[in-house]
Amino acid sequence: MQFPLGSLSIFRIVLLVVVLLAGLSAVQYRPDVSGRVWQAGKAAWWDSRLLDLGLTGWGQAPKQPIAFSHALHAGEYGLDCLYCHSAARVSPVAHVPPVQTCMGCHARPTPNPEIKKIQTYWKNQEPIPWVRVHALPAFTRFNHKRHVRAGVDCQSCHGEVQRMQRVEQVSSLKMGWCVTCHDAHQASKDCLVCHY
Ligand code: HEC
Ligand code: HEC
Ligand code: HEC
Ligand code: HEC
Ligand code: HEC
Repeated sequence: MQFPLGSLSIFRIVLLVVVLLAGLSAVQYRPDVSGRVWQAGKAAWWDSRLLDLGLTGWGQAPKQPIAFSHALHAGEYGLDCLYCHSAARVSPVAHVPPVQTCMGCHARPTPNPEIKKIQTYWKNQEPIPWVRVHALPAFTRFNHKRHVRAGVDCQSCHGEVQRMQRVEQVSSLKMGWCVTCHDAHQASKDCLVCHY
């Protein structure tokens, strides 16, 4: 009994290609993740694939260009989330605050090197290149305003941010996660509500 000609080597080649591709996308992606700045916008499709593999997103707390602490500002000093993320109440995106918001409290000369960085960005009129933590794939749509107005608090989705030194993604942001909560709140599960 003979195997059909070459079927084993074809199988091997396919396997090799799959392994190579998986390796390549992981390797190529890594520098991309640390380099993706907040302004980068929507994540690519493979973001959620890598999320499945635990290579990005969920559980990660990327290092930021300035050691800004939510635990200090929103925790210890009790600043309201909407003081800095006021867009969340009126628009689909929550936005990170502009340098101007920081300068409202940090304009005075200081020996603190992290605060000096803020003043340098301000002097140069450059935005702070914050690294984005949460990002849905491009084929989905999300709307902060709808959730904030419906009384869903930030913490139900983002966790106890007011205790975080560095923001970390605590929810999977997967479709099942969205739909489970929509089920519980009788919110819409129409595909087109969340997909383009
Ligand atoms: C003093 C201003 C300020 C306050 C108050 C504040 N934030 Fe932020 N927030 C920022 C800045 C700056 C960033 C970007 C840097 C970072 O990720 O730490 C950010 C980032 C975030 C992110 C991550 C965004 C991303 O890239 O995915 C979340 C989520 C967030 N904030 C939620 C909250 C919540 C919830 C509260 C209230 C408990 C809050 N913030 C209060 C300034 C603030
Ligand atoms: C409402 C006032 C207020 C705003 C707005 C504010 N901060 Fe602060 N921040 C403080 C106070 C108070 C402290 C602690 C005293 C100090 O070090 O000046 C502080 C401390 C800091 C520190 C030093 C922390 C440390 O442990 O050394 C950094 C860095 C910082 N803030 C970054 C930012 C950034 C970035 C923004 C803008 C997104 C911002 N802050 C907005 C009030 C504010
Ligand atoms: C129902 C879940 C949910 C709630 C409630 C929620 N967020 Fe988000 N947030 C998300 C998701 C999902 C993303 C990623 C959105 C994307 O990539 O389009 C996100 C992204 C962000 C971002 C970064 C991107 C952006 O939209 O600017 C910030 C900052 C943020 N949220 C802050 C907040 C704050 C502050 C609150 C409370 C006022 C809040 N969020 C409430 C789910 C939520
Ligand atoms: C913690 C609970 C919760 C989670 C998690 C959640 N949602 Fe929602 N969502 C709601 C509620 C409650 C409403 C209804 C708001 C209203 O009635 O206006 C809603 C409404 C919406 C709407 C507007 C629906 C409409 O009828 O126009 C969109 C879009 C949406 N959610 C997308 C998402 C996406 C995408 C995710 C996941 C990334 C998500 N939501 C996760 C609770 C949640
Ligand atoms: C409440 C929001 C929400 C609703 C309603 C929703 N989706 Fe999704 N869906 C998402 C989010 C967020 C993602 C991206 C994260 C992920 O891959 O799970 C997604 C991903 C997907 C994917 C890609 C899955 C993958 O593994 O790449 C498909 C296909 C899809 N949705 C189809 C549907 C269909 C069909 C419906 C209607 C029956 C639907 N969705 C309803 C939020 C939603």
